[in-house]
Amino acid sequence: PGAMPKVTFHPAGRSAEVPPGTSLLDAAEAAGVDLPSNCGGVCACTTCHVWIEAGLASLSGIEEREDDKLDEAAGLQPSSRLGCQAKVGDADVVVRIPGNRIAS
Ligand code: FES
Repeated sequence: PGAMPKVTFHPAGRSAEVPPGTSLLDAAEAAGVDLPSNCGGVCACTTCHVWIEAGLASLSGIEEREDDKLDEAAGLQPSSRLGCQAKVGDADVVVRIPGNRIAS
């Protein structure tokens, strides 16, 4: 068994090592990074929207419900995920939390 995957959050630059299967939302909490989750992590808002800068392919796949919510996210990019839905796989991940969250 290798080391646990490391998830790094920008712009804070903080990271945490978490077991595979951990959501990015939970990884943010472990890293001490504030990632808003207005719906409580049930894929009913877009406040946990993040961009994946590295490790996108290693994350759990996007399901239809997440795909639908992502369409409502401000600043949608090909690398966009909802932090409460995307789960860490076996590779390190680099995440960027979009700015101007109040406007979104
Ligand atoms: Fe609401 Fe992720 S916390 S969709």
